[in-house]
Amino acid sequence: MKIFTTKKALTEHLEKLRGEGYTIGFVPTMGALHQGHLSLLASAQRQSDVTVCSIFVNPTQFNDPKDLEKYPRPIESDIAKLEQAGCDILFNPGVDEMYAPDEQWHLDLGELETLLEGKFRPGHYQGVTQVVYKLFDIVKPDLAFFGQKDYQQFLIIHRMIDLLKLQVKLVMCPILREPDGLAMSSRNIHLSAEDRQHAIVLSKTLNWLNENFDPNKIDLLQKECFGRINLEPSVKAEYFEIADGGNLHPAQPSTRNVVALVAAKVGNTRLIDNMILSS
Ligand code: PAF
Repeated sequence: MKIFTTKKALTEHLEKLRGEGYTIGFVPTMGALHQGHLSLLASAQRQSDVTVCSIFVNPTQFNDPKDLEKYPRPIESDIAKLEQAGCDILFNPGVDEMYAPDEQWHLDLGELETLLEGKFRPGHYQGVTQVVYKLFDIVKPDLAFFGQKDYQQFLIIHRMIDLLKLQVKLVMCPILREPDGLAMSSRNIHLSAEDRQHAIVLSKTLNWLNENFDPNKIDLLQKECFGRINLEPSVKAEYFEIADGGNLHPAQPSTRNVVALVAAKVGNTRLIDNMILSS
């Protein structure tokens, strides 16, 4: 695997590959890689000639400085995992390579930015779009792979692509889960052994909803799920929403593409999960 830390060197290398007719598949990450990330890479490998993964803990998308500080950064083991998985190129820039001092960014993401995650993490999606735009501009991928776990992020990036008319196709890859159902996340390592057990309530509740979903009882089911999560010790739901998967508005009985999304604090760790109920 070739490792680049500067935009210039990566751009030159990719230009050569593009000139030779290779397609480029891109997996942007913040590192602390787990099987979920590696499954994105596997999809990229199946669908493109050259795979580029980026590892960059993007400061502009953290609204809590403590969260940024404690974000895991196990770069050596991440590199080993990517090597082993057969990734072709890693882009691992420092903050100064990605940002000039006092850089400004604002994209009108509409109400999608103010719903769900947006309500609890103000400014988060401005930071995400800012860095993903920069990464797309450097890598110029044909395809970019994102996980369904960050469902709203996927919709937001889709919107950015539409707004800025970018030439990249997004691919959503399914959520990978631990054997007991917990969605894989870089944040899971912060869970204490006890909280790790309690965290299962998120996927359990989503599964329960999936089995009991009735489009005529959306409000009732939503309240029931929110309540089930809050019954679990040391778990506090921020939201549990049964939504239209296209725009994240509350789902109606007639909504065809329905997704349930949840965010909760488990001990001190904030986790998100979701499940597509019908599409
Ligand atoms: O999903 C993530 O890990 C991040 O939000 C992303 C897309 C790499 C941007 O920093």
